[in-house]
Amino acid sequence: IISMEDRGEREEPAAGLHFVGMKEDLIKAKRSFRTLEGRDILVLYHQEMFYALDFHCYHAGGPLQNGDIEEFDGKLCIVCPKHKYKISLAEGEGIYRATNSYAPVPTTRWYSKGIKQRVHTVTETNGAVYVTLSHVSRFIESDYFQGEKGKVERERM
Ligand code: FES
Repeated sequence: IISMEDRGEREEPAAGLHFVGMKEDLIKAKRSFRTLEGRDILVLYHQEMFYALDFHCYHAGGPLQNGDIEEFDGKLCIVCPKHKYKISLAEGEGIYRATNSYAPVPTTRWYSKGIKQRVHTVTETNGAVYVTLSHVSRFIESDYFQGEKGKVERERM
């Protein structure tokens, strides 16, 4: 019996799933740019995990595909090459380190700005990798850099 996969065919993905590549190719590439439903997405492979997030940094649209990946405050983050903002890969949380100089003993610690970068869901079936776009309905800052629609949404806020 020759399976669909053997014939080089893929089953039709379920609604909302976007095929973004074969696992081995995405692993080799490590960082891949895709446009899904008009949205620019970065698909990342790091330490045996796939991540997908909006391609343009929420701060000023910096190119996240060139950012270093490091762990801060126990969270794996991409560091935007433009102004070094740190964004957690799993949640899209903006984190920063600051010192509270008003405290009797000034202390430096990590703070969260909340979710700033839209992240998407990655799944894999038989070596094929799919992305499902985030359904969070509220405006997330990185939406601003996803064409005119994002800019209109921000003005409504
Ligand atoms: Fe990414 Fe400013 S554009 S940190």
